[in-house]
Amino acid sequence: MRMVADPAALRAALAKGAGRLAFVPTMGNLHEGHLALVRRARELAPRVVVSIFVNPLQFDRAEDLEAYPRTLERDARLLEAEGVDLLFAPGVEHIYPRGMEVHTRVEVPVVSEGLCGAARPGHFTGVATIVCKLFNLVQPDVALFGKKDYQQLLVIRKMVEDLALPVEILGVETVREADGLAMSSRNGYLTEEERGRAPALHAVLRQVASRLARGERDLQKLEAEGMGLLEASGFRPDYFAIRRAADLGVPGPRDEELVVLAAAFLGKARLIDNVEVRRPSAASP
Ligand code: PAJ
Repeated sequence: MRMVADPAALRAALAKGAGRLAFVPTMGNLHEGHLALVRRARELAPRVVVSIFVNPLQFDRAEDLEAYPRTLERDARLLEAEGVDLLFAPGVEHIYPRGMEVHTRVEVPVVSEGLCGAARPGHFTGVATIVCKLFNLVQPDVALFGKKDYQQLLVIRKMVEDLALPVEILGVETVREADGLAMSSRNGYLTEEERGRAPALHAVLRQVASRLARGERDLQKLEAEGMGLLEASGFRPDYFAIRRAADLGVPGPRDEELVVLAAAFLGKARLIDNVEVRRPSAASP
């Protein structure tokens, strides 16, 4: 596996290869969730490029950015073992050479607003900007994103559609611990006691999803109950929402493909998760 930091070195390394290229952008501190994307990428294309860049533009709090775990050596070993061809691990000076305040930004309206976008101002503009730039640098045929970050996946899909970027976007199922907790680098912020409670997030999402699947239709009541159940498990919920799976809009009576999403603090850690669900069609009048 080759590792490059400089965009010019990246272009030179890419120019040597040929064939379909799959790309997995990450912020490092890799776990089985990231590696599932890499394995899927390997199945899709003979060339796999992974990026590791802790993108300051998408952090809304300086403490968060500073505390973000950086484990490049270990990450590189894991990627090498997965058969990755090229690791692009630039520094902030390579990506924002003139400073990030003056860098061009990519804003993706509507789908970026609400949910995590409401709690984290500027976050999805930061994500869309870096992913757009990485796509231009790597020029992949296909790029893979986890459904764990469901809103992020839809922001990227919309950006690609709106800007006619020539890349296919693939969403990959969430990889979980045995007790249901979605894998995340933020799980490392949990104390032992909090780690014991953490699976309740997924359990509550599943419970509400199965009630939707059985035909319950009062979404506001289900959302309020979801919030209450999270609070009862010791979380400080940020939101608990039932939305349309395709665009995160508020579901109308005829919408059947839904997603139940939540974000909640457990101690210092802000955890997110979601469950997709199809509900039975509304009875005709
Ligand atoms: P990061 O949090 O490192 O995640 C990189 C990719 O791994 C994302 O597509 C994310 O959805 C996916 N992922 C994380 N946990 C997962 C899990 N448990 N199961 C499946 N996939 C999982 O998301 C980012 O970085 C950044 O915002 C980025 C897209 C790289 C832009 O900076």
